Amino acid sequence: MTLQLKSPAKINLGLFILGKRPDGYHELETLLQMVSLYDTLELTALPAGIELICDHPGVPSDQTNLVVRAARLLLEKGAAGRVLGCRIHLHKNIPAGAGLGGGSGNAGIVLRGLNQLWQLHLSASQLAEIAAQIGSDVPFFLGSPAALGRGRGERLTALQPAKKFYVILLFPRLAVATSEVYKGLNLDLTKKQKNINILLQFFSESDIASLGAHLHNDLEPIVFKRYPIVQKAKEALGALDPDGVLVSGSGSTVFAIFGDSAKASQAFARLQGGDWDLFLTETVTRLSEFLPASLCDDLKP
Ligand code: C5P
Repeated sequence: MTLQLKSPAKINLGLFILGKRPDGYHELETLLQMVSLYDTLELTALPAGIELICDHPGVPSDQTNLVVRAARLLLEKGAAGRVLGCRIHLHKNIPAGAGLGGGSGNAGIVLRGLNQLWQLHLSASQLAEIAAQIGSDVPFFLGSPAALGRGRGERLTALQPAKKFYVILLFPRLAVATSEVYKGLNLDLTKKQKNINILLQFFSESDIASLGAHLHNDLEPIVFKRYPIVQKAKEALGALDPDGVLVSGSGSTVFAIFGDSAKASQAFARLQGGDWDLFLTETVTRLSEFLPASLCDDLKP
């Protein structure tokens, strides 16, 4: 049996660092939103062994790939000693080291898919626990297309999605290591009055113009300092009159949001030919936009 699945990218409409934790991670609040740029995954059951086939340069095919870690951890924690296996074909569209959660999304979707393929019947909270061990962003890809993340980013509150809006992703062909960006944080400088509540308010009202005006990412100044090319990319996007523009996560992708799809298409056309990869996307508002029906409602709480 083979399962064909799509794994979406995410953007952070807000990312506020609250402090450093004893375990070395940072306590944060983030507004996460899935967008319609997808990798595709094909999962086939095997009698034993985990195989990954990924022909994309720069994406490892060995056990360092989050997809393999996800499958192994699921086997270890959820299969009660049964001998199970799978072959995973991964076709990448989402750039790596881009702040778009590509690898995290792949891992989350593999957990969901193998839970069904292997008939493990793990609950949503059991899968979320395994997901959090793989990476801070992985649990988001098990749940709602929009969520508020707290803790390391793994403690999630599902949000009612805003009315669909349009997002240009600009990847400046530069891979960023998340841990390096966090190391550059100066927590004294990030103690501002700003907080995520105002963003949540505009998001809940689908007020995209006000949401855009209040996008915020505490990691952005560090990314700009280390990679001035990312700041240039933000200026290029900002010149096209979007509702808002921001670095996603720890970069290097800069995204622009538009309430109006025609304006987004015009801006997209004007950005062609630069030294970057561009994607015109829209927000995902329902799981059924990328998951088969059987996977949308198979998880017990
Ligand atoms: O959880 P994940 O492995 O994706 O995190 C990658 C790196 O990002 C961590 O090793 C850590 O340096 C940094 N990080 C952090 N605080 C977070 C999330 C990530 O410091 N909340």
